[in-house]
Amino acid sequence: MKGYIKSPLNYTGGKYKILEYILPCFSKNIGTFVDLFGGGFNVGVNVDAKKIIYNDHNLFLSQMFEYFKAEGLNIIEKIYIRISDFDLSEENAEGYLALRESYNKNKDILDLFILTCYSFNHQIRFNSRHEFNTPFGKNRSAYNKTIEENLINFIHALQSKNIEFFSKDFTFLYGFDLGENDFVYCDPPYLISNASYNDGKRGFKNWGTDEEIQLLDLLDFLDYKHVKFALSNVLIHKGMSNDRLIEWSKRYNVKHIDKNYNNSSYQRKNKDKETQEVLITNYE
Ligand SMILES: C[S@@+](CC[C@H](N)C(=O)[O-])C[C@H]1O[C@@H](n2cnc3c(N)ncnc32)[C@H](O)[C@@H]1O
Repeated sequence: MKGYIKSPLNYTGGKYKILEYILPCFSKNIGTFVDLFGGGFNVGVNVDAKKIIYNDHNLFLSQMFEYFKAEGLNIIEKIYIRISDFDLSEENAEGYLALRESYNKNKDILDLFILTCYSFNHQIRFNSRHEFNTPFGKNRSAYNKTIEENLINFIHALQSKNIEFFSKDFTFLYGFDLGENDFVYCDPPYLISNASYNDGKRGFKNWGTDEEIQLLDLLDFLDYKHVKFALSNVLIHKGMSNDRLIEWSKRYNVKHIDKNYNNSSYQRKNKDKETQEVLITNYE
């Protein structure tokens, strides 16, 4: 995976591991690239385009990345000061809880990043009052050299690119001026998987059938306007199939991402566990 920038957030559902399959499928000479469900921003940060739009309805993410871009590497020293202030370590649950309380009072965006370094599975979860509530990642999660290296490379990339940050529901794209040289990448929550941002317990809107239909309609609209799009998703996952998506995808091009997809003996053996991960595009 040399050469690709990895988000410092270890984001659930992040596409870092499959960048080598999806990035070469994107068109070249892109005017505006929209990462519509940006999450940890593993995809958009690796794209070359005149302008990049990051969007995620979780406003804390866009705030954080905007802050990283503006502050640059100054934040590294600030992180060490906070770690020392709260005596944070893999073992110190009390320190973590004290920082969590402080963040929920003051909403300092750098504290949120530091919390994700020490939280269980690095998850970012909020209650309905938008208070951060992920438990401590005891003996597992900490700010370390790998995260720091990812953070430094990520900040360099943010600062070298022309990026605008949005925190809107994806339907805002209807009112956004895009043309033939522009490109929209969509990595929404998957209807048939159970990532924790699907469960409605993250303080943000749940992903359900209505949202899925709205998204497919939006993609049809973009196609009508000759705007190129690529949609990441799964057609089949752990014995479930997304029949609406399978039917809809027949109008477009479907590229199978799974390394084992063409290996039929692998598929026979792994039928129940099988996941068909795809990239659906409206261009060859
Ligand atoms: C699979 S993740 C994206 C991961 C990202 N591609 C990466 O590599 O880090 C899906 C994201 O969609 C966001 N999301 C869910 N519903 C949304 C909506 N209605 N509008 C905008 N973003 C939404 C979630 O907050 C989540 O961050």
